[in-house]
Amino acid sequence: MSQTYNIAVLPGDGTGPEVVVEGVKVLDAAAAKFGFKLNYQYYDFGGDRYLATGEVLPENAPTELGTYDAIFLGAIGHPDVKPGILEKGILLKLRFELDQYINLRPVKLFPGVPTPLKDKGPEHIDYVVVRENTGGLYTGIGGFTMKGTPDEVAVQSMVYNRKQVERAVRYAFEYTRKRNKKNTLALCGKTNVLTYVYDLWERVFHEVGRADFPDIKREYYHVDATCMWMVKNPEWFDVIVTGNMFGDIITDLGAITQGGMGIAAGGNINPFGVSMFEPIGGSAPKYTGLGVINPLAAICSGQMMLDHLGETEAAAAVEKSVMYVTANKLKGMGAGKMGHSTSQVGDMVAEGV
Ligand code: IPM
Ligand code: MN
Repeated sequence: MSQTYNIAVLPGDGTGPEVVVEGVKVLDAAAAKFGFKLNYQYYDFGGDRYLATGEVLPENAPTELGTYDAIFLGAIGHPDVKPGILEKGILLKLRFELDQYINLRPVKLFPGVPTPLKDKGPEHIDYVVVRENTGGLYTGIGGFTMKGTPDEVAVQSMVYNRKQVERAVRYAFEYTRKRNKKNTLALCGKTNVLTYVYDLWERVFHEVGRADFPDIKREYYHVDATCMWMVKNPEWFDVIVTGNMFGDIITDLGAITQGGMGIAAGGNINPFGVSMFEPIGGSAPKYTGLGVINPLAAICSGQMMLDHLGETEAAAAVEKSVMYVTANKLKGMGAGKMGHSTSQVGDMVAEGV
């Protein structure tokens, strides 16, 4: 009997729906070829629904989404909605409520993809950032006092407990071992200034590594230096583990080195629950409906979802097909620069699976 997976699909805002169509096209091609079934249930959460109903996310949504095998998301963010409302109310809310405590972001340069890094190619840019995804500055602890006066104070605290740090670090060690490339895990922190939070991270990192992962080499970089080496010597990296805010920032840098937001994929992972896969870029509203947006980030997120579901052969086939397309078919990665429309790129990848 063939395996069936139930997938919640959240196309979201802007170009999200367009890239999701292509992601689903490729997922279906993989399912047909490798003999499993995908059932999709669509949800209209996003800016348009909020503007029409005043509701950001129905109260039961996290619980309901938690009953699926995985979630496939396009993009959240609407030009007519004040920044923060949809991001906090939908994206971050789901990450938190579903306890997706890892944000897994591969930085991999595919063949044929232009990188702004001089003299670097696919052999130099192939590492993974394990971003802690539910704590740190994103906890949202803070507030204003004397708001609107010259004495106004605003506070937003970087909060981590040991359990959060330990589970992220353990995941990263295990991931590094399973990946089995350089068997090197780098902690990205700021122990010279954030002498409480990253002291905790550093102690946990070495304790866990020493006790349970002696086969994995440990390295440490400050976050500012990490940015420098990601540009100058990306080939040094295998797996990087870091807190939520640093992870957010360095993965945009990583994304641009692998060809930009059109191709950078990610997964919000709960290793014991329901995970959510999404392109790491935004909703790119100015390109909505033009058929020019690059769907590869969504397609690669789908590929990560297949891998996560255990359909590893199908996932490998999707990646191979994407690589063939980047190496042989596309002129560029940016919106309107591919030499093909959004759906043509989806067709080419689907046909090659
Ligand atoms: C990301 C995004 C989000 C984040 C925003 C939209 C809340 O930048 O997924 O990287 O900061 O995590
Ligand atoms: Mn980000």
